[in-house]
Amino acid sequence: MDKPELFSSAGTPYRALADTQIGELWSALSWPEDPLPVLDVGCGPGDVTKKVIAPRLPPGTKLVASDISPEMLEFCRLHNALPGTITYELFDAMTPHLEKSSVWQYAPFGKVFAVMVMQWLSDNRRAIQNMHKLLVPGGEAVFTVLAKSVHLAAYEELAKDPRWARYMKQDVETFVSPYHRSEDPASEFRQLLQSEGFHVVCCDLSPQTFVFPSEAQRRAALKSVNAFLNRIPEDQKDDFMDDWMHHMEKLGGLTNDTEPTGETKFCMHCTTLAAVGRKL
Ligand SMILES: C[S@@+](CC[C@H](N)C(=O)[O-])C[C@H]1O[C@@H](n2cnc3c(N)ncnc32)[C@H](O)[C@@H]1O
Repeated sequence: MDKPELFSSAGTPYRALADTQIGELWSALSWPEDPLPVLDVGCGPGDVTKKVIAPRLPPGTKLVASDISPEMLEFCRLHNALPGTITYELFDAMTPHLEKSSVWQYAPFGKVFAVMVMQWLSDNRRAIQNMHKLLVPGGEAVFTVLAKSVHLAAYEELAKDPRWARYMKQDVETFVSPYHRSEDPASEFRQLLQSEGFHVVCCDLSPQTFVFPSEAQRRAALKSVNAFLNRIPEDQKDDFMDDWMHHMEKLGGLTNDTEPTGETKFCMHCTTLAAVGRKL
C-alpha cells in the first residue's frame, strides 16, 4: 500500500466503518488517571489516527503513529499533523528487533491500536508478540481486521490467469489475510491473543458493506489498496483492475443496489473482526 492520496481521498466509507467500530470498542477500554502514550500501528495516511483515535483520547495523551511505508508517513506529516499530540515514526510491526525500533523509546504504551492492519501481516503472531512487549501490564490492544473479502479471493483467481501470474504467483499468499480461509476467524484470532498473553475482552466477527456514491469512487478505493498494481506495466493497469473487479462481482462481493428512489449504491461486501485484548 503506497498510494496515500488515493486511499485518503477515496476511503470515506472505510473511515466511517473505522469510526463506528472504534467507537463501539471504546467502552471496553479503561483509562488510568495519568494515561501512558498510545501507539497506532499501520496508521496509513493518518486520517483514522487524527480524526478517529486522537479526538477520543483523554486530554494530554501522547499518540505515536507508525507505519512501514515512508510514503504514508510523509503524507501523514503533511496532511494529518497534530503538533504536541501525534508523533509519526517508521515501524515494521513484525520486526524481530523490537528493542532497536523507533517506537521502543516511547514504551511502555497504555494502548496499541491496529486498525485494518493485521490482514496485511503475514506473521500475525510476531506482530502480536511485539504489541504485547510494547504494552504496560493491564494495557490494551485494539484491533479491527479484514477477515474475509472477495478482493482477496479475486487475487487468487488472477494469479491463475497467464496474463497476470508472473506478477503475482511468487507471493500472492503474502497478501491474502491469514483469516481469509479460516472456518472460524474469531476463534482463531481469540486463541492467538490468548496464547500470547492477552485476556480477550471481546472478539467478534461481523459482515460489513462499504457503500460508495459512484462506480468511480469504488474503483479508486479498491485501486488504493491493491497490493499488485505497482508491478503491472502502465498500459495494462486498467485491464488488471477490470479483471480484478470482474472476479469480485462474479464472487458476489461487489453489487450495485438500486434504492426505491432510483438512486444506485455501489457496494463492497466483506467480513471484519473487532477485538480488544488486555495484557495479563
Ligand atoms: C489498510 S491500511 C490501514 C491504515 C490505517 N490504520 C487506517 O485505518 O486508515 C494498512 C496499513 O498497514 C501498513 N502496513 C503494512 N504492513 C505493515 C507492517 N509490517 N508494519 C507496519 N505497518 C504495515 C500499510 O503500509 C498501510 O498503511
